Amino acid sequence: MRKSSLFHALLAGATLALLSGIAHAEIVIKFSHVVAENTPKGKGALLFKKLAEERLKGKVTVEVYPNSSLFGDGKEMEALLLGDVQLIAPSLSKFDRYTKQVQVFDLPFLFKNIDAVHRFQNGPTGQAILSSMKKKGLTGLGYWDNGMKQLSANKPLRKPEDAKGMKFRIQSSDILEAQFKAVGAFPQKLAFSEVYQALETGVVDGAENPWSNIYSQKFFEVQKYISETNNGYLGYMLVTNTKFWDGLPADVRKTLEEILTEVTVQVNKWATEFSDSDRQKIKDSGKSEILALTPEELAAWKKAMKSVYDQFTSAIGKDVVDAALASNGK
Ligand code: LMR
Repeated sequence: MRKSSLFHALLAGATLALLSGIAHAEIVIKFSHVVAENTPKGKGALLFKKLAEERLKGKVTVEVYPNSSLFGDGKEMEALLLGDVQLIAPSLSKFDRYTKQVQVFDLPFLFKNIDAVHRFQNGPTGQAILSSMKKKGLTGLGYWDNGMKQLSANKPLRKPEDAKGMKFRIQSSDILEAQFKAVGAFPQKLAFSEVYQALETGVVDGAENPWSNIYSQKFFEVQKYISETNNGYLGYMLVTNTKFWDGLPADVRKTLEEILTEVTVQVNKWATEFSDSDRQKIKDSGKSEILALTPEELAAWKKAMKSVYDQFTSAIGKDVVDAALASNGK
């Protein structure tokens, strides 16, 4: 073969190899989150990986990064917008820079139970919130539960007055800030990965968390009391980069959406189970005393925090708040 034809043959071969490489290039989905693997979100991320890699074998790989190991609070949303990760599931309290509507979930004592939360999330308003950030580059793919929040501290909190002057760690939400100010406490926004140390060293005196986070992060080892207040809902929005998602081959996107629907059902089941079993494990440990509050005591907390509604309803949208309240039924 002459030198130039050998060159052309090599070039053609290389081009072919490159093209087939492109055709078979696997889509990598990096899924970053801040909680432990033995939590509803942690297990959900792993189940999503398993099903996606089984059903889209050779087409999709999912890398899961738990425990803020890739990006923590404050960084994960930016990373998603920059394309450094493709899937995250921040708590609903962490979206207020992108949409005010989602703040509805932070209103204290809003939902009477998880069924009411689901009615709202699956109804027209809840579904509209999922697409409310599209123009900003974020597409909501669904909601995942963790559970109802409980108040923990090193002294027993029974009445709202007991919280006066105490420092509480909060997620980065202005509503949660107002909620603690309403009872005369000092809220402090801190990333999730910093909470254990802040509680241990007394940087803050208390916090609010669902049972699975209190257990899996060992917060109960550094908090003597947990008041069973169920004062708010902690759930997640599964969110992706709009450009990435819309750019996926239609069949891949459809399969991933089906998988997410399936995983959501399972995550919400785990959330109910973890709420019971982690509460029981904390009780059995004897390290933290669980305080059951009377209906009168709970009513006092609710009343003390009511002013938060007046402060935030117009920013969230009265229609959104009303739809959430209506999900409680008569
Ligand atoms: C928190 O910061 O307390 C939670 O949002 C953590 C989580 O993802 O459950």
